[in-house]
Amino acid sequence: MLKGKKILLGVTGSIAAYKSAVLVRLLVKAGAEVRVITTPAANQFVAPLTLSTLSKNQVLSELSDNDSWSNHVMLGRWADVMLIAPLSCNTLAKMAHGTCDNLLMAVYLSATCPVVVAPAMDEDMWHHHSTQENLLKIQSYQNKVIPVDTGELASGLFGPGRMAEPAFIVNWLTDYFKEKDQLAGKKILITAGPTYESIDPVRFIGNHSSGKMGIALAEACYKRGAEVTLVVGPVSEPIPSGLNVVAVRTAAEMYDACMKAFPETDIAILAAAVADYAVTTPADHKIKKKETELTITLSKTKDILKELGTLKKNHQFLIGFALETNHEKENAVQKLQSKNADMIVLNSLNDTGAGFGHATNKITIFDRQLKEYDFEVKSKKEVATDIIHTMLQVIHA
Ligand code: CTP
Repeated sequence: MLKGKKILLGVTGSIAAYKSAVLVRLLVKAGAEVRVITTPAANQFVAPLTLSTLSKNQVLSELSDNDSWSNHVMLGRWADVMLIAPLSCNTLAKMAHGTCDNLLMAVYLSATCPVVVAPAMDEDMWHHHSTQENLLKIQSYQNKVIPVDTGELASGLFGPGRMAEPAFIVNWLTDYFKEKDQLAGKKILITAGPTYESIDPVRFIGNHSSGKMGIALAEACYKRGAEVTLVVGPVSEPIPSGLNVVAVRTAAEMYDACMKAFPETDIAILAAAVADYAVTTPADHKIKKKETELTITLSKTKDILKELGTLKKNHQFLIGFALETNHEKENAVQKLQSKNADMIVLNSLNDTGAGFGHATNKITIFDRQLKEYDFEVKSKKEVATDIIHTMLQVIHA
């Protein structure tokens, strides 16, 4: 389950700290290596001796102990995950604002590993605007939050705010690691965004693709352990770190970049809106306004998906997109077959919330057996997860 995983458990000052003893025991039982850091307040709720006995490691609480100094940077580097459970309201506020006044906060602020928190507090504190705002803030810093339980609280009140049960936290972490390693060792090529085809030095033919879907896919694959090459056309969308980014402008440049990367690729996902036609001879000077009509001759660009479909080896998996406005399913299936893809993701412009520019998308997927997978309108991040899960299902079928 958690065999060999290195877990750095931070315990803060909350009555739920008594549960951290059970949590350490379950983590160790699941095969994890556990080291515990407590805040000074936590030491009043749970004895460090209990935690050090159960974790089989000395509990750390102070930045320096007499003559020795705890290397907070190395602790964050050692861990596969830093789990703060329980997370008190006070430590949550410090995390939101970057306050560094104890060892736990120094480790948190220097941690390079993912950080997961399990908050615990009374209902009224939980509902306070500042608490909810701080939670959103720490999530925007990429920290993950295990939802609180609803039940009897230390105050005697009944409501949300209880720390999730230790067994739930262990299951949550198990699922988290399963997902995190899902694409480990895979090399994934993704195309995203539009292409621009020059008419002259100041004008181009482009389209409304924002690149959001392809970038969300690239990020989702990277987070699951894949090595991702993102070949991206001109976009203003921020590109997450950790990807091998190849920025291109034209369909021809995108084609070249994909041809170069494909031999080393396990999975290719072509989400870009590539121009089907490019100006045959772009002018090398700005075209002056003269006649009533202007004729520009266009030539067909190379179809990257089709080319990769021809080159594809047995171990390679190819996913295309189809953006359709009519006879959507028939056209998508026809593209899947004619381009020799293994899976096609259909966006219908007739669906509200789907297509270019939106933060959401609605997709239908077809595999080579023409099995259909339907999904609701979701955020592009969630759609990326659906595509990856379906892809893994099809690959392992
Ligand atoms: N595609 C590509 N290279 C092109 C054109 C399209 O790789 N020159 C890829 C897209 O990235 C997408 C799939 O082919 O994965 C389908 O793109 P789409 O524009 O929907 O279809 P086309 O084949 O261009 O056909 P049409 O525009 O006639 O619908």
